Amino acid sequence: MKHVISYLVFSIFILFSLYSNASNKEKTTTLTINLNKKGAEIAPSMYGIFFEEINHAGDGGLYPELVKNRSFEELEMPEGYYAKGDTLYPKRVINHQTGRVMDRTYKWTKEPVPGWRLDSTSIVNVTMEMSKDNPKYSSAPNNLKVIIKDATKPARLINDGYWGMGVKGGDKYFFRTIIRPSSDYKGKIKVKLLSKKNILLASTIIDNLSENEWNDINTELVPSADDSQARLELEFTSSGTVWLDYVSLFPQKTFNKRPNGLRQDLVEMLIGLKPAFVRWPGGCVVEGISLENRYEWKKTLGDPAARPGEYSTWGYRCSYGFGYYEFLQFCEDINADAMYVCNVGLGCHNRMGDACTTDEVSYYVQDCLDAIEYAIGDVNTTWGAKRAEDGHPKPFPLKYVEIGNENRGDLYDERFDIFYAVLKEKYPDLIYISNHGLRGTGNITKTDMIDPHWYVAPDFFFKNSTIFDEHPRGNYTVYVGEYACNRNVGGGNMMAALSEAAFICGMERNGDLVTMTSYAPLLENKNDRRWAVNLIWFDTDEVVGRSSYYVQKMAADHKPTYMVEMSPTENVPENELFSSGIVEPVPLQLFSSGYDETTEELILKVVNAQSCSYPVKFKIDGAQSVCKEGKVISLSAGSATDENSFETPRKIYPAESGYRKFGKEFEYSFLPFSYTVLRVKVNKGKAVAHN
Ligand code: AHR
Repeated sequence: MKHVISYLVFSIFILFSLYSNASNKEKTTTLTINLNKKGAEIAPSMYGIFFEEINHAGDGGLYPELVKNRSFEELEMPEGYYAKGDTLYPKRVINHQTGRVMDRTYKWTKEPVPGWRLDSTSIVNVTMEMSKDNPKYSSAPNNLKVIIKDATKPARLINDGYWGMGVKGGDKYFFRTIIRPSSDYKGKIKVKLLSKKNILLASTIIDNLSENEWNDINTELVPSADDSQARLELEFTSSGTVWLDYVSLFPQKTFNKRPNGLRQDLVEMLIGLKPAFVRWPGGCVVEGISLENRYEWKKTLGDPAARPGEYSTWGYRCSYGFGYYEFLQFCEDINADAMYVCNVGLGCHNRMGDACTTDEVSYYVQDCLDAIEYAIGDVNTTWGAKRAEDGHPKPFPLKYVEIGNENRGDLYDERFDIFYAVLKEKYPDLIYISNHGLRGTGNITKTDMIDPHWYVAPDFFFKNSTIFDEHPRGNYTVYVGEYACNRNVGGGNMMAALSEAAFICGMERNGDLVTMTSYAPLLENKNDRRWAVNLIWFDTDEVVGRSSYYVQKMAADHKPTYMVEMSPTENVPENELFSSGIVEPVPLQLFSSGYDETTEELILKVVNAQSCSYPVKFKIDGAQSVCKEGKVISLSAGSATDENSFETPRKIYPAESGYRKFGKEFEYSFLPFSYTVLRVKVNKGKAVAHN
């Protein structure tokens, strides 16, 4: 208890300190840039994204299926698990880190058929129950048995989607159902799309069904108007029994017109980040609560109706709709390299954390080899042929394989060595990443990259923008695969974003070591926040980028070719926010500078996390001339606690303007609570005409 109280006091103190105005004095800093002192080159791979099925990022988000529990698999549990009420109890297995069984439980649903309900007038004359009777696909064996006792009264089955269905008037939606009527059902099925206000938006009739066999029906619905809270209704017109194996409503308009593709507006946000790579599928879902519910890529291939999905680490069932093929296709479509993260036979050590036996490790190695073969193998190989059969004979752009996610300890190190040796031998051109952090690579023999993760409070990033400065070079490079300021920052406020911008300055300065980065988590359906702070929020029809999103975007939009030396020469202000004697001072004004060889521009990035403006005098050495006119891109907020929201999604938004006072020496005053990029053409060799 004592610990809890001191933690609370400390947190309140930090919060107060961070958002107070203690050192609110404007002092001019002089920063000297020396264009002849070339620093680290920034790798083209520097900025990427990391997708994980968390916060309904995929189902009910990026993967635009409108029907929740379309395949009726949502009550399937991982093997050996059981549920009581709304609690799921995992299989009791020994955690490989603690040596004990962890007493952890997970969220379960009490809904008899998740996602589906009978309308209130149908309850008396219709029953529904889960069934595994004569399944269409053994891989996805569940179906719904609907018994209509009396069809003179309404018999309606409803799906409300993922917190409503967002539809656009005039757009086409593919409706597919796999349905089996028994011989006593002689009716039709009316399919209706209804608005929140009960207006019929679209409908179709399914007729002439073959009795006692699965009918795979495909048709289209075109709603007459937009609605963000629509629902799908199936109305049965006669008494009798029908089984439903699959009911799907999927937009025709997807990103790049891909069938089983991705939600256009969300992809646009992701493209806005100019991702050089995409990490997938996790995150903790790779490991699973225990190995039983680890992410299994092979189960994500083929007909979506045959995919079983899995109860995910993040407390809901993932349909596997956005599967391995769709991920690879997405990477190709956005011209990004793919990073696949494999399981090494270890469940998540923060959860049940089981370990497969040593003999079983070869199974996991083979599974990873198969994943690589599926992505890039020749069409004459087993998995390359499967890729071709799935519609893509050409190899996909797989470039990286991360061996495990957030695994650690001796067992991991042993396994890493096995994986690395086998994979490197067979696929020497791929880049392999271990889960180690900056403290060292334990007992492993060799890795190409390490992957430290940070989820921290703002002071950590402000203090640690120098964390990479002294890190040894030469053995491996660093991929900061997950990082975010998510403590004491509300839903993700400006101070969080500024601290990340400060950290980015440090990562860019150390671009010879840090060659890849990705913020985490990427996406949040606003109805299911499973993680404290996430980069992009959405609901059925709106998308909001948090201030951190714009920091990421600005960093990637203004990626220099290489860094150039920038040093403060005088009057660096003391940041006294933390200087009460209990907590050490934290720098709240940080900067970095680089050069863009393509545009011949100097790029200056400045973070001012103080509540006062920050006047800076810049001196540019090593330039024959500097254009007078350049650009300023600035992200600023009225206060440290400001956040974007669905009501004011662009409250914090980058403003771009021209600036005509650049020169070999110039001054600029940075706004309070701002992250600013200055871009100006410089001539390093011969003189250019000043505009
Ligand atoms: O990004 C959320 C989670 O944080 C990831 O699943 C895991 O790798 C990390 O612990």
